[in-house]
Amino acid sequence: MNRKLRVGIIGAGGIARSAHIPNYQNYSDGVEVVAVANHNKDKAEDCAHEFSIHHAYEDYRDMLREMELDAVSICTPNAFHAEQAIDSMQSGCHVLCEKPPAISASDAERMEEVANQTGKHLMYGFHFRFRSEVEAVKRFADEGEMGEIYAAEAKWNRRRGIPGWGVFTNKELQGGGTLIDNGIHMLDAALYLMGYPEPKTVLGVTYDKIGKRPGVGLLGEWDHENFSVEDMARGMITFQNGASLLFESSFAANIAEKDARVLKVMGDEGGADVFPLNMYQEKHGTLLDFKPAYLKESNAHQKQVHHFLDCILKGEEPISLPDQGTLVQRIVEALYESASTGEAVKV
Ligand SMILES: NC(=O)c1ccc[n+]([C@@H]2O[C@H](COP(=O)([O-])OP(=O)(O)OC[C@H]3O[C@@H](n4cnc5c(N)ncnc54)[C@H](O)[C@@H]3O)[C@@H](O)[C@H]2O)c1
Repeated sequence: MNRKLRVGIIGAGGIARSAHIPNYQNYSDGVEVVAVANHNKDKAEDCAHEFSIHHAYEDYRDMLREMELDAVSICTPNAFHAEQAIDSMQSGCHVLCEKPPAISASDAERMEEVANQTGKHLMYGFHFRFRSEVEAVKRFADEGEMGEIYAAEAKWNRRRGIPGWGVFTNKELQGGGTLIDNGIHMLDAALYLMGYPEPKTVLGVTYDKIGKRPGVGLLGEWDHENFSVEDMARGMITFQNGASLLFESSFAANIAEKDARVLKVMGDEGGADVFPLNMYQEKHGTLLDFKPAYLKESNAHQKQVHHFLDCILKGEEPISLPDQGTLVQRIVEALYESASTGEAVKV
């Protein structure tokens, strides 16, 4: 490419400012964030000013029409992801869309279809894949050191971590609460390590016992009066290949830890606890626990943005694929459906 790669940002809030814009700007001189769009124009202008971005838009469609962009980051509430990603790809842009892919499986499918039709990269913001621990376990799994991974556990529980900013407690704009927000990160990481097997049956339960009343907010004060999402989700997923996954996440629960992540994979040759990383095998008649002597600290958000750019500029193979986004969205939808009907759902 002879000219700089031109990047646009849709949604000028927390994740755009902390994880997307700075990491485009620290990649290389060959990449420029040229415009930012936010439906509140003041916010777009404020963000443009803070990051020395030359153009601010109120309507992202005007930005797509006028700015000759090569790539777009989508950092808006979940309900807008599908439309904005599809419009961006159809305007000729590669897309890095924040997680979750969308608020419904049918939207995620449409996004996947348009990615296939246009040949554009569509990556989702599942940045835990870029954590050193996950990368290490993935290498072991890919080399067959785990054997067949047939069981896994994915949990992200917060004691009082209901986000006090944005629209994270608004079902219409987010599609749900802890499951589709923080829980989906662990779900994706587990599926990624398991090789993204095809799901079979899903059983889910959700609760909203704590979010609807006032309480101590460790991630800001949340709006309990308009709290319309679940604050806890639990479930079990079985897969066509016989594997199974236990899931749990909470925005709020009466537990000891302020914030606790559990990611566990169990194969017939080895297993791992990912956070912190410990691995288990049986070799030469001995049960072994082993862990890295040193694991390089990594900025997963930065690695994710740089990987997206490497895929565009250097032809690297994306590690995050649109059909995986559709699959995890199908599981999320099935968990919600099962929670509402009280029955297991065939996926
Ligand atoms: N990967 C992660 O770790 C991570 C962390 C936080 C948020 N996220 C995801 O990023 C997205 C945004 O979250 P956030 O924390 O930045 O929220 P936020 O509320 O801080 O920012 C969202 C921004 O989008 C703007 N916006 C709303 N509707 C819009 C529209 N139709 N068009 C353009 N702009 C619009 C808002 O004005 C706001 O500036 C969500 O999908 C969330 O799930 C991911």
